Amino acid sequence: MPPLANLPIAANVAVIGASGGIGAEFVRQLSTVSHVAQVHAFSRAGTDIVDDKVLSHAIDITDEDSVHQAALAASAEAPLDVVIVATGMLHGHSIQPEKSLSQIDPQAMLDVLQVNAVGPALVAKHFLPRMRRDARTVFAALSARVGSIADNRLGGWASYRASKAALNMLLKTAAIEQARRFPECIIIGLHPGTVDSGLSKPFQRRVPEGQLFTPETSVTHLCRVIDGLSPTDSGRCFAWDGSAVEY
Ligand SMILES: NC(=O)c1ccc[n+]([C@@H]2O[C@H](COP(=O)([O-])OP(=O)(O)OC[C@H]3O[C@@H](n4cnc5c(N)ncnc54)[C@H](OP(=O)(O)O)[C@@H]3O)[C@@H](O)[C@H]2O)c1
Repeated sequence: MPPLANLPIAANVAVIGASGGIGAEFVRQLSTVSHVAQVHAFSRAGTDIVDDKVLSHAIDITDEDSVHQAALAASAEAPLDVVIVATGMLHGHSIQPEKSLSQIDPQAMLDVLQVNAVGPALVAKHFLPRMRRDARTVFAALSARVGSIADNRLGGWASYRASKAALNMLLKTAAIEQARRFPECIIIGLHPGTVDSGLSKPFQRRVPEGQLFTPETSVTHLCRVIDGLSPTDSGRCFAWDGSAVEY
C-alpha cells in the first residue's frame, strides 16, 4: 500500500523542515503517492528534491510573518490535507543538550524552546485554519519520546525535553480548539525513533546496535501510523511503531 493511502484525491500537502533528514524523506515519499497533487516543501536551507509535484518555498519558523506567508502560499490553490512539521533543534551554534542543570544557559534554552515549541505553535496558528474542512486531514509535528514527563527516567537534556513537552501540550490544546470547527482534523505528535540525521549525529554512539533508523525506514513507519489514525486520536503523541507515547 502506498504511504497515506486514505487521503482524498489530489491531496495538498505541506512539509515544514524539508531540508532536514526526516523532513526531506517525507517530501520524497509523499511526492511518490499518486493521489498527492502537490507537496509544498518549506525550509530555510532549500531542498535538492527535483520533482514536478514538489514546490520549494522559504520559511523561518522563528519569524511569524514568514510562517504566515508560507501558510498563504501552501493554501493558495487548495486547502491543505496534510501538514508535517519536521523542524527541530537539539544542538547548534553554542547550544549543546545539558548533562545537568548546572549547564543550563538561559539564551540557549530560549533558542531551543523557540524552535521546538514556539515555531510549531506559529505553524499551527497559521496553517490549521487553512486545512480542508470536509474530509479527514492530518497535522503532525515531530515530537520526541524524551518530551514525555512520565517516561523521564534518566534526566538530562533539560531544554530539549522541556521544549518537546511544551510542544505536546500545544498540540493537545490545538486539537481541542480545531475539533470545534474541523471535526475531521487529526492533530498529533510523532516520535520517529532514533534516526540517522544531523540532529542525532553527535549522539549516535549510545544507540544500541540495529536501533538507528534510516530516514526512509522511520518515515515509512510514520506514514503507516498516520494512515491508521482517526479523529478520536487527535491531541495524542504516537511512536514510529504505532504505540501511544504517554505525556
Ligand atoms: N533524528 C532523531 O533521532 C530524532 C529523534 C526524535 C525526534 N526527532 C525530531 O524530529 C524532527 C526532525 O529531526 P531531524 O532528525 O530530521 O533533524 P535535522 O536533520 O537536523 O532537521 C531539522 C530541520 O529543522 C529545520 N529548522 C531548524 N530551525 C529552523 C527555523 N528557525 N526555521 C525553519 N526551519 C528550521 C532545519 O532547517 P535548516 O536546514 O534550514 O536549518 C531542518 O530542516 C525534530 O523535531 C527532532 O526533534 C528526531
